[in-house]
Amino acid sequence: MKGNIIINNATVVTPTGKSSCKGADMAKLSVIENASVMVSDGIITYVGPSDSLKTDNDTVFKIIDAEGKAVLPGFVDSHTHLIFGGYRPDEFNWRLNGESYMSIMQRGGGIQSTVNATRSESCENLVEKAQWFINRMSEMGVTTVEAKSGYGLDTESELKMLEAIERLSNDPAQKLNVVSTFLGAHAVPKEYKGQTDKYVDLMINDMIPAAKGKAKFFDIFTEKNVFEIEDSRKLLKAAREAGFELKLHADEIVTLGGAELAAEMGAVSADHLLHVSDEGIRQMARNEVVATLLPLTAFALREPYAPARKFIEAGAAVALATDLNPGSCFSGSIPLTIALACIYMKMSVEETITALTLNGAAAVGMADKIGSIEIGKQGDLIILEYPNYRMLPYYVGMNCVNTTIHHGTVVYQAKPDASTHLG
Ligand code: NIG
Ligand code: FE
Repeated sequence: MKGNIIINNATVVTPTGKSSCKGADMAKLSVIENASVMVSDGIITYVGPSDSLKTDNDTVFKIIDAEGKAVLPGFVDSHTHLIFGGYRPDEFNWRLNGESYMSIMQRGGGIQSTVNATRSESCENLVEKAQWFINRMSEMGVTTVEAKSGYGLDTESELKMLEAIERLSNDPAQKLNVVSTFLGAHAVPKEYKGQTDKYVDLMINDMIPAAKGKAKFFDIFTEKNVFEIEDSRKLLKAAREAGFELKLHADEIVTLGGAELAAEMGAVSADHLLHVSDEGIRQMARNEVVATLLPLTAFALREPYAPARKFIEAGAAVALATDLNPGSCFSGSIPLTIALACIYMKMSVEETITALTLNGAAAVGMADKIGSIEIGKQGDLIILEYPNYRMLPYYVGMNCVNTTIHHGTVVYQAKPDASTHLG
């Protein structure tokens, strides 16, 4: 699906660089009016003023007139639990009535409930269901998604989940890049209740070796009463030795030192961070661990938002992602993520765009390939409905994406509408 495309009459809005964008630099976007973007065989070969564009006559390009509208890099959703069986609407209702996420988990619901449903699902069904969510993501401008296992929690079921992710990723008609994460350390499954040590041993001796080479990242739910710091350190070391890059669900429910551990282990990202300590923020900034913040989860759990401003002021790179999953956050809404980041986390629109593009790319170890509109990067682009990118948070919770392009091929286009909304 690698295409040739030229977008003319664009207002190009993009961060720049091949690595994460940190601190005050997150607010610096390059804006080029009357611009063209050329993608040849899936790769960006020109971005700049339309009147300087030179095409070679042998290649046939699809030409799009953006009518002055904003053209951004495709969004990167760098933290999702895309593969899962079943749903948990009752649990959501219990939470509305005051029960906490952890108490539901401790009495055998929560993650374990999705584990039961996922274990009994075929790989084909998991793939089909995930594709439905991918199609919705593509409509909201997502061109790269990270997908975790973690609802199998035994070797066979975890491998089934990783197989599902691989099938999605290898589908030649796929609408986005899929990055795979092994999350066998998502919870201690019911068979090992009260025997965390034994499950940690199973992970180290069986599950990590079996998953080796089948996912790019290893992730862990480092949390009080799940995997605490010592067990997390042990598992992260074993995963790193097996060749995985590291991610952590850190300091989501209580302040435990997950951020500090992420810095110590050289993790690529630490995610959630609702209850991160000031020392954890400093150490993540110093060790260049991307802070992946997930405002939809805080919103859905009625928890305080992660301290985005503190991270930015400390010089860290902040990424934003949805955390789409059937439990804590059954939403993959990019528009609402943008609105919450700007309204409640006090990120500027520019920082929010960087967080969802270049820094999301850094959080999946792909900042040299995606996340900005620059020559040599993948032709993953979105055209908004509006010339002004500041419409993104202002049109609260609503989709501003008109066209999504992956590898130079249009993978989503809004239905044409003769009425006008621009004036
Ligand atoms: O990122 N906290 C751990 N994992 C997920 C939730 C998974 C679930 O509830 O099914 C999260 O919030
Ligand atoms: Fe998560």
